[in-house]
Amino acid sequence: MNLEKQSVVIAGGGSTYTAGIVMMLIENQDKFPLRKLKFYDNDEERQSVVAKACEVIVKERAPEIEFLATTDPSEAFTDVDFVMAHIRVGGLSMREKDEKIPLKYGVVGQETCGPGGMAYGMRSIPGVIELIDYMEKYSPEAWMLNYSNPAAIVAEATRRMRPNARIINICDMPVAIKKSIADILGLKSESEIVDRYYGLNHFGWWTEMTDKQGNDLMPKLKEHVAKYGYAAAASEGNPLLDEESWMDTFKKAKDVYAVDPTTVPNTYLKYYLYPDYVVAHADPNYTRANEVMDNREKNVFAECERIAAAQTAEDTTIEAGEHAEFIVQLAGALAYNTYERMLLIVKNEGAIANLDDDAMVEVPCIVSKRGYEPLCMGKIPHFQKGMIEQQVAVEKLVVDAYEEKSYQKLWQAMTLSKTVPSASVAKEILDEMIEANASWWPALK
Ligand code: NAD
Ligand code: G6P
Ligand code: MN
Repeated sequence: MNLEKQSVVIAGGGSTYTAGIVMMLIENQDKFPLRKLKFYDNDEERQSVVAKACEVIVKERAPEIEFLATTDPSEAFTDVDFVMAHIRVGGLSMREKDEKIPLKYGVVGQETCGPGGMAYGMRSIPGVIELIDYMEKYSPEAWMLNYSNPAAIVAEATRRMRPNARIINICDMPVAIKKSIADILGLKSESEIVDRYYGLNHFGWWTEMTDKQGNDLMPKLKEHVAKYGYAAAASEGNPLLDEESWMDTFKKAKDVYAVDPTTVPNTYLKYYLYPDYVVAHADPNYTRANEVMDNREKNVFAECERIAAAQTAEDTTIEAGEHAEFIVQLAGALAYNTYERMLLIVKNEGAIANLDDDAMVEVPCIVSKRGYEPLCMGKIPHFQKGMIEQQVAVEKLVVDAYEEKSYQKLWQAMTLSKTVPSASVAKEILDEMIEANASWWPALK
């Protein structure tokens, strides 16, 4: 079949994930052919390290693709079919603060969950809105596929502030968990799993999993999760699980599962159900941001510099993992009308029957040229409904706080989070976060 060639801009070209996505795009030229590949970032120096390496990769493996890296929005966003966005407003140094400030007060310090996620949300909203505006100005027919975190808060903000935008917010966690599940069950790949799942981003549960023939995979899976969580012997080759901190999270799913054995959980629920455990096992002086700076960031940038110096990527260690696979597959489904079933973050509108229409939920959707069509997951039980409604309110209050520049609303958001024990602790964390984010947040009244 002769597929129409696509033009893609990666926004956040200097991200640690960019080179992996480029590898995946190049490996998928038969399924998702490109005419143009562009990088956009607001940090020219950072982006150029990744761009110089990717230029070599493109020249070597797919020289027919026109490649360009720029910090000029009009150059970046003109004539594109897809914007693949993964910006980190404030960078990893602000992530470090998001994680360390709450820990000082005995509260979970995490990139997307609890007060750290809210602080990050306040920084991300204007950055992502700006990308949407560039896309709408220069390529109004394009789709933005957005990984930029905190995806739940970003999704609520974009729903409210740019209601007609062609943006789809996504997360790779369910895919990463399903990859482990495929290992556990001895399946060839996670694409063999057909699932029913409901919740919010980083806050959801699977109710069903079958194989393509309709055989129920849950009994065998539950037996394993009850004993080992999502850790699988075969996961040793899974780059995500090479790191001990991620392996701990996958193992902890055992205790998360125990709270509701009728479902299997997203690993992120550990921050809400076992915050005391998470804090007790954290090092307040060396958090995940430090691990990422010392490992992923260092390795990716060193490898990019090596490729640029050698002017060849023949023996590169850069790999295209499931993170890259998911976003490229989603773009392919939209471009070529594949009607694939994928978990996306979308407006509820009845997908979870007993939850407000305007909540941004994560549910399976059918993806085609028409966009996405969410599947109905029906009514959910009291336990999940209670947790989800509390968390939806937290996310909405953060966006209220951003829009109204309201100290009160952000204090309420932090107070309401299941990760925070009291309004007084919430206030102490908030006051310190306001100082740390002075150059990023709007001034709160
Ligand atoms: P990173 O700091 O290495 O890269 C982010 C890049 O964005 C940097 O080059 C930075 O200069 C650029 N940037 C920041 N603000 C910008 C702006 N306003 N406009 C243009 N560019 C801007 O971060 P990373 O660790 O590679 O992660 C990138 C993002 O992807 C983060 O938001 C991360 O949370 C997210 N992510 C999400 C998922 C998911 O499941 N949704 C999975 C993985 C990563
Ligand atoms: C998963 C989540 C992302 C999150 C990332 C953090 O992929 O789905 O939303 O950003 O983990 O990983 P890191 O290695 O940066 O801690
Ligand atoms: Mn995610």
